[in-house]
Amino acid sequence: MRTRRSLIDLDDLSAADLAYIFERTRAFEKRPPPETLKGIACVNMFFEQSTRTFASFNLAQLRLGAQVVNLSPKDISLATKGETIEDTAITLAAMGIAVLVLRHPEAGFPARVAKAFDGHVVNAGDGGHAHPTQALLDIHTLREEFGDVAGRTVAIVGDILHSRVAHSTVRGLVRLGADVVLVGPESFLPDSYAERGVRIERDFDAVLPTADAIVLLRIQRERFADMPLGDDDYVARYRLDAARLERLRPEAIVMHPGPYNRGIELDDVVLEYAGWRYAKQVMHGVGIRAAVLDFLVNGAA
Ligand code: NCD
Repeated sequence: MRTRRSLIDLDDLSAADLAYIFERTRAFEKRPPPETLKGIACVNMFFEQSTRTFASFNLAQLRLGAQVVNLSPKDISLATKGETIEDTAITLAAMGIAVLVLRHPEAGFPARVAKAFDGHVVNAGDGGHAHPTQALLDIHTLREEFGDVAGRTVAIVGDILHSRVAHSTVRGLVRLGADVVLVGPESFLPDSYAERGVRIERDFDAVLPTADAIVLLRIQRERFADMPLGDDDYVARYRLDAARLERLRPEAIVMHPGPYNRGIELDDVVLEYAGWRYAKQVMHGVGIRAAVLDFLVNGAA
């Protein structure tokens, strides 16, 4: 039975929860966080590859003093021994595991586990569905830059359809009053996205001079069989390059959740741009994940 708080998507957090998590993140980044997870056992189970998300959850847990167990798919008996994930969850809870951080290619997998697990489940990315901690760290990066995201124009560019990051970030930004523009070809951005309280724009060049922030996305090739348009076509219309950087406002920032594909969604010149905030996003990833874990386990102080 699920009795403790989990984070499956941003809807699980109230406005007050969001404010608390951002404030805690800032405090944790100023000085080393107190060991508020001392004696708390966490398991990280990543059924999909991950560099940033996995390392930052791990680091956040260690900095909070938690006990950490990392299980990779080859260690997990459900694949080969026929155990259901629900029974695995019951087993881990019986061992005293309090936190389960999950990444899985199937949308809805962490929500299913949360029903069976007597502990906290944190979604570290489920298929094309959601990636709430990435959304939180992206919004934190924007808040650190602009103070408040309300009224700021944030353009999210590329393969929105298959991006769990975009899905969670859009939810968060719309809730916080940002002006969100989604940019991409129809195959990556169906018109139905307009129902989410955002604007849709096909012409990246028209958006460039209006944006406070550009969020670039990787084409999630592992989530669909055939590329709906040629790479050359995509690059011509949507790659951020020197000419497009010139059209940005001088104070505009450029973000990317990573991993970025050089030559596809961005040209190498973007990595030298003064407003390139990728390293800041990665840095905030540790603080945000520490704040989320601390909040789920200990509540708001
Ligand atoms: C993203 C993911 O895995 O959803 N990366 C991340 O967690 N920072 C985006 C991607 O894979 O392109």
